[in-house]
Amino acid sequence: MSAFQGTTAPARPGGSGGLERGAGAGNGTGSGAAPGRADAGGVSAAGVSAAGHGTPASVVGLLAQLASVGVDPRRGGYTRAGFSREERTLHEWFVQEATARGLDVERDRNGVLWAWWDVPGGSRSNAVATGSHLDSVPGGGQYDGPLGVASALAAVDWLRVRGLRPARPLAIVVFPEEEGSRFGVACLGSRLLTGRLDPATAAGLRDASGVTLAEALAESGLDARHLGRDQAALERIGCFVELHVEQGRGLIDRGAAVGLGSSVLGHGRWKLRFSGQGNHAGTTLMDDRRDPLVAAAGAVLAVRDAARAVPEARATVGRLQPLPGGTNVIASAVELWIDARHPDDEVTAALLESIHADAAAAAEAEGCSVELTAESVSPTVDFDHALTTRLGEALEGTTSGGLPDGGPALPAARGGVPVLATGAGHDAGVLAAEIPTAMLFVRNPTGISHSPEEYAADEDTETGALALADALQELLLAP
Ligand code: GLV
Ligand code: MN
Ligand code: MN
Repeated sequence: MSAFQGTTAPARPGGSGGLERGAGAGNGTGSGAAPGRADAGGVSAAGVSAAGHGTPASVVGLLAQLASVGVDPRRGGYTRAGFSREERTLHEWFVQEATARGLDVERDRNGVLWAWWDVPGGSRSNAVATGSHLDSVPGGGQYDGPLGVASALAAVDWLRVRGLRPARPLAIVVFPEEEGSRFGVACLGSRLLTGRLDPATAAGLRDASGVTLAEALAESGLDARHLGRDQAALERIGCFVELHVEQGRGLIDRGAAVGLGSSVLGHGRWKLRFSGQGNHAGTTLMDDRRDPLVAAAGAVLAVRDAARAVPEARATVGRLQPLPGGTNVIASAVELWIDARHPDDEVTAALLESIHADAAAAAEAEGCSVELTAESVSPTVDFDHALTTRLGEALEGTTSGGLPDGGPALPAARGGVPVLATGAGHDAGVLAAEIPTAMLFVRNPTGISHSPEEYAADEDTETGALALADALQELLLAP
C-alpha cells in the first residue's frame, strides 16, 4: 500500500518507556536551536537520528525549507492546493525529513501520511499521533498547517536528544486537503479517513477547472476506489494532538506563547447558485436585464447582515464566480460560497435559512432563480477534557527541553497554560469524534491568518515545538 519507500527505525537499546539521559533543566530561551547537521547515524537533513545523534532541527529552519514551494506572486503568500503539485512536493519533503529521522513512512489509501516511531518489538496500537496539514488556502501564510508538521519533526528530535524511550508508538500524521480549497470540502483527508464523507461523493467532487478528485488522486498515485473509512488505520491511534498557529488574538492578549484548545466552532460551507440571462453589456437596456450578479450582490449583504444580527455568529462570502465572466458580458449565472460559523449548530442552520430566504428575494427582484447546496458541515466539537487537563498539568509542571548539557528550556512564564476555543476548523476537530484529541496553539501576534500576513515569532515557534515535545513525552511514557 505504501507509495513511498519507508525505512524502519533502528531498534533503540533498552526496554519499554523511559528517559535514557533524563530531561535536565536548561537555561536557554528555546529560540536558538541551530539547524541540524549530518551525523554518523545517516541523518543528512536537519534533525536527530534514531540513535539520538545530531541537533534538534529548528522549526524556523524546517519552515525555511518550504519557503519556495507554492509562492503565489499574484495573491501574495502561498497557494498549495490539495493533491496539487505543490502539496505533493511538500509531502515528498515530509517523507524525506521523516525518513532521515529513521521514521517508517507510509501513505494510506486516503492519501494521509503516517511516519512511525515504533516501540522496539511492539505493535502499532494505542499510538500517540501528532501532526497537521501542508496544503494552504489560496494566498495563505506559511504557518497554518506546516507549523504543526515542522513542530512534530522538531519535537521528535528533542525527545530523541533527551533519550526518551517511548512506551507506546508515535505517529506524525499529515492530512491532505485540510483547507478544502480545491474540492470544497473542509478537512477532506480526515473526513475520508473517518468515513465522515461518502467515498463515492468524494470521488466525484470537482475543482474549479472541472478536475475530479478521482483524477487528482490518480495523479498522486492513489485510487479513488479505495477511498473511505480506514478502521485499521484509526484503531492504531490512542490519542491525537495537533499543534497549530493561533488564528486569533487569545494568546497575545494573555501574554502566553503557547495555549491549549478547548473546542472548535461549528462551521460549514454552502453554495448559492444564481441563474439569470447571459447577454450583451452594450445592447441590453437596464430594464431588460436578469443579472444574477446583481442578485448575488444582494446576497453578499444579506450574509453579512444575518450574521451581524446573531451574537457570536460569523458568516463570510470569500469566493464568488460569475459565469462566463467577461467585462462586456452580463453573467448567465453566479456561484457564491458562504462560510458560516456559530457555537450552536441549530443557530447556524437557522442563519442559513434566513440567508437563503434573503437570497431568494434578491433573485426574484432581479428575475433570477437561486439554489442552495451544502458542501460541508462540521458541528461544534469539544476536545477531550481529560487529555487537555493532563497536557495542561504536564506543560505547567515541566522544566522542558533540557539537554543533558543544559540546552534550551521553555520560558518559565509558560506556567498557567491558557485554554482557548477556536473559530478555525482543524483535522483535530474531525478526529475528536472518535479519538481523545487535544490541540496546542502557538501565539500569533496579530491574530491574522489565511493571509500572507499570518505570523508567529521565531522564538514562539521553538517554544511551541518544545511544548509539543513535553506533551508527547507525557503521553509516550505512560498509556
Ligand atoms: C480552516 O482553517 C478553516 O477554519 O476553514
Ligand atoms: Mn486554515
Ligand atoms: Mn490549519
